[in-house]
Amino acid sequence: MRHRGNFPRFPQSSRTRLARLFDITETEPAIAAGSLGEGGFAAPIEVNESRFMTTVASPALNPAVRHQYEWLPYPARNPQEERSRLLTTAVDELATINHYAWEGRRDLTKGLRVLIAGGGTGDSAVYLAHQLRNTPSELVYVDLSEASMRVARERALVRGLGKSFQWIHGSLLDLTPDRVGTFDYINCSGVLHHLPDPDLGLRTLAALLKPEGVMGLMVYGQYGRTGIYQMQEMLRRSIPANLPRETQLSLARQLISNLPPTNWFTRGHDLFESIEQMTPAEFYDIFLHAQDRAYTVPQLFAWLEQARLRFIEHTFEARMLYQPMHVFAGQPEMLAHVETLPLSEQQAISELFWGAASRHIFWASPLGRRQATPEDGQQIPCYSHLGEILQLKKVIQSATTPACDFQMSRPGTPCLKVTVSCDPLTRRLIDLIDGIKTVEMIRNQLMQEFQQSAAMMDRVIQHVCQLLAGYDLVVLRHASTSVWKF
Ligand SMILES: C[S@@+](CC[C@H](N)C(=O)[O-])C[C@H]1O[C@@H](n2cnc3c(N)ncnc32)[C@H](O)[C@@H]1O
Repeated sequence: MRHRGNFPRFPQSSRTRLARLFDITETEPAIAAGSLGEGGFAAPIEVNESRFMTTVASPALNPAVRHQYEWLPYPARNPQEERSRLLTTAVDELATINHYAWEGRRDLTKGLRVLIAGGGTGDSAVYLAHQLRNTPSELVYVDLSEASMRVARERALVRGLGKSFQWIHGSLLDLTPDRVGTFDYINCSGVLHHLPDPDLGLRTLAALLKPEGVMGLMVYGQYGRTGIYQMQEMLRRSIPANLPRETQLSLARQLISNLPPTNWFTRGHDLFESIEQMTPAEFYDIFLHAQDRAYTVPQLFAWLEQARLRFIEHTFEARMLYQPMHVFAGQPEMLAHVETLPLSEQQAISELFWGAASRHIFWASPLGRRQATPEDGQQIPCYSHLGEILQLKKVIQSATTPACDFQMSRPGTPCLKVTVSCDPLTRRLIDLIDGIKTVEMIRNQLMQEFQQSAAMMDRVIQHVCQLLAGYDLVVLRHASTSVWKF
């Protein structure tokens, strides 16, 4: 789970801090004194727990799935580690969601209603609660596995974040607006592809969204998992089903550790964490799962459509795998043609080119993309959590070269880089971005200092903001909202 795939590479000076910029980022020191909600560590907090167990034995669920996660809660987490680090999940970055889905106009300080569906051991639940710790928010966690819920709840309690949670042990398929209300944001990562009917699962969650609500989803990608499905089939056919599951796990590990170079999983091994480093929960999840399916991009868009949802954007880690500009960088005529095609088709072509998308991590909503734009002078550019972790400002300010390369790469694909010019005007612009000044204020300041026209300044600001926002290094929030710190 910690090493779920791709990672960006950045200038050397910031690289050491980036060892784990996957969909999960580990930041440190985990919790600065005073940054917690009222509770502090391990404060006695009332646990608000419910059980919706009506369909746990229904045909809409595969009992083997529940048994697996009761036995091996996923991902393996030790709640006490909350004392020394915070894991963050890119799909749950609320400032980024605000940028793409709410035109930066959502005042996050006013709080959100959040559902974490199939929350597992709590990575998303904890990070969302952490971000919303000082707001009047409500978080509802649901999972089929009681063992996983216990870990998630303990993690939240250790952080003093338990107060705003409702914990539900049960199936997401049993949630209705009558029972749990409706939500501004629903996280459902790595869950729906384990249902016998993922279409029903997505429609159930879509019915729980407020009209302007957003979902952060992860489902498996077909092409990147080609080797995985061959190995699942091999193990299904070769390991007697009546053996104890521990024995099955051990036999599977032995076989998978000795795959020849010709094997498709071996050929695509760089798309996944190394087998030796996989915890039993990870290994079982990837190779021995009783119920999973994967999606190509066209299937993904069709899946969203049947639930009346519209695609918004992929999270930054794998976004470039879906963008034709990287595929056709050297073929402008083909790029021009491909860019006339529907978005799903553009992404489908790019997905086929790389063959590396093993997980689609993205946002969707009934309204679709509603992105903030720097053309609006009342938008405020802010360094995203990612931009801060990378020390973007410092790296550009201290660069001694005319431009600074921020390289986004993914195992199995060549390096893709974002080049930021380090000329005096851009440097000053980067410096003026402070999460407080609007685009208009920055423009006026630059006009005074550089004696250039407003039109020229607007062009520069828009170019730089769009470039950095394209990789979620900078996000916009509207001046009508309050300052937001993650
Ligand atoms: C692979 S884990 C993902 C956990 C978590 N979302 C994450 O990304 O770390 C899948 C989780 O979905 C839960 N799950 C599967 N089917 C479910 C259902 N119908 N309702 C609620 N949870 C479910 C499992 O118990 C398990 O904890």
